[in-house]
Amino acid sequence: MIPLVDLAARHARHAGQIEAKVLQVLRSGRYMGGPDLAQVEQRLAGCFGLEHGVGVASGTDALILALRALGVGPGQRIAVPALSFFATTEAILFVGAVPVFVDVRSDRPLMDLALIPEDVDAVITVPLFGMGGPEPAVDVPVLCDAAQAIGWGWGTPKAQACALSLYPTKTVGASGDGGAVLSADAAVVDRVRALGSHGMSAPHVHVSLGRNSRLDAIQAPVLLAQLDTLCTRIQRRQAIAARYEATLQHPIPRDPRDAVHHFVLRHPERTRFRAHLAEHGVSSAVYYPTPMSAQAVVAELGQRCPVAQAWCQELVAIPCHEDLSASQVDHIVSLLESA
Ligand SMILES: Cc1ncc(COP(=O)(O)O)c(C=O)c1O
Repeated sequence: MIPLVDLAARHARHAGQIEAKVLQVLRSGRYMGGPDLAQVEQRLAGCFGLEHGVGVASGTDALILALRALGVGPGQRIAVPALSFFATTEAILFVGAVPVFVDVRSDRPLMDLALIPEDVDAVITVPLFGMGGPEPAVDVPVLCDAAQAIGWGWGTPKAQACALSLYPTKTVGASGDGGAVLSADAAVVDRVRALGSHGMSAPHVHVSLGRNSRLDAIQAPVLLAQLDTLCTRIQRRQAIAARYEATLQHPIPRDPRDAVHHFVLRHPERTRFRAHLAEHGVSSAVYYPTPMSAQAVVAELGQRCPVAQAWCQELVAIPCHEDLSASQVDHIVSLLESA
């Protein structure tokens, strides 16, 4: 079966750079912080044209801690696109705020900026699947959930902070959970660093209610090796995406600056299409089957987003990554021809 992502193949590609260094970390006895981790933070920030970054324990923590660092708290109303991985909403709920779901565009599955209500206290944007677009012009804090955006060419987000997931399947993925908060503002990153370290301003001086949320030093070699190859890997994904698009009758319009975290298409008969792929040895996945606004956790809010709902009925992701061989890509293209 051709996998949607092939993490063992990705590791094999980078193993020469990673394995000896992981062993060095194990033998060093230094498992927290250190210069390599500082380099990871700098380089992740650099991917978005930002100066400051701090590693945290997951992308979900990155969202929660960034919201807190931006001053978002209980009762505040946060605009968020109806279509994303549910963690985006979870973070809002965890800080005691209220999600205000904004429906998405019909051409690309991104928040319809014209629908953002005027009375919100903050906005979270989500460059889903690595797709970029115009940014909201609002007077309230903006957080970019950049979990799927690494490697994009859309430049520096105007958002006050970006939250990154380093979950293993991400284009730059840890060997385990991880995340980062990135910002042009050193103060935001400092606040996240303190919140992720039990709210300490100095050893054993707890000035705010924090938690334990750090990126482990052992992840540094894993991430640095993948950062070194990020540009070429994204280019390969873009080239494969272009092959698929040339075959499809109605591909979702892609911008050359998009990162292609997942290649998604719409299929009106998704179940049949996925069965056809599976029969011919190709994996696929549904991202996402339900808009966040329709999940049981937030059902009592009663918000409806019909455009997101329509996307959720047809979206399907197919393999599009640098570890596919030329013949595997040809095989997938031939299946798209007969889709
Ligand atoms: C858009 C989006 N936001 C947030 C997250 C949460 O990240 P993590 O799984 O690292 O907590 C993910 C991860 O899949 C994601 O895709």
